[in-house]
Amino acid sequence: MGRVVPVIGLVSAMAEELAAVIDVVHAEEVIEHGGRRYHRGRYAGEDVVCVISRIGKVAAATTVAILLERFRPRAVVMTGLAGGVDPRLAIGDIVIADTLIQHDLDARPLFPRHEIPLLGIAQLPADPALADRLARAAERFIVPPEVAALGITAPRVWRGLIASGDQFFSSSDAVAALRVLLPDTLAVEMEGAAVAQVCHEHGIPFAVARVISDTADHGAALDFARFLRDACGPYARALVEGVLTGVPSGRG
Ligand code: ADE
Repeated sequence: MGRVVPVIGLVSAMAEELAAVIDVVHAEEVIEHGGRRYHRGRYAGEDVVCVISRIGKVAAATTVAILLERFRPRAVVMTGLAGGVDPRLAIGDIVIADTLIQHDLDARPLFPRHEIPLLGIAQLPADPALADRLARAAERFIVPPEVAALGITAPRVWRGLIASGDQFFSSSDAVAALRVLLPDTLAVEMEGAAVAQVCHEHGIPFAVARVISDTADHGAALDFARFLRDACGPYARALVEGVLTGVPSGRG
């Protein structure tokens, strides 16, 4: 084991979602493990470890399990993109999870639908203080020209339920079905609840912020790709820098 420092773990699923952060972290060390690269460095006065989990719940869970085991972070923050499910959400809005659920988890009749077997809960609560800090960072986000170029002028900040599962939503029918199943869902993505479960089981505070890249309908794949290419950098940097600036030191 290396020296133990009270790092904050920063996780995104795709390289584009965290590149703007990794660029400014100036990693002192990159540790490769299990096909992932853990970038250890400093950002906004904090020791951080950045890692790209890749896409889906298994990829995210294994990445974060190793992050917790090897780096012992005192908190984990996930940022990235999501599809808007609640019709009030617009592309460019920011969703901070209060709770997360695996929409595709169904062990009936052994356990109620969505309940995590043997954990006894379906919705995993994010750390309220960390989520508050992310929300404050989101409220302070100033739209840069590359984001404005997508027609995003005044993104709104939402808090509530994020649903995760191994499915990219790209039809209104699929969104409608999800809204019947989980009417409180604000946004859908493919990793957050997996990160949440691993952190919850290890007692590590975590929070998840997602920027709406698409509305999960027939245009989702194109909107997602465009947002990933053109707009996610400034959001990621603002959210991560904002949350790090507000995290208590955890030292002494
Ligand atoms: N992440 C971003 N957009 C998404 C969508 N439409 N479905 C699942 N995950 C997403």
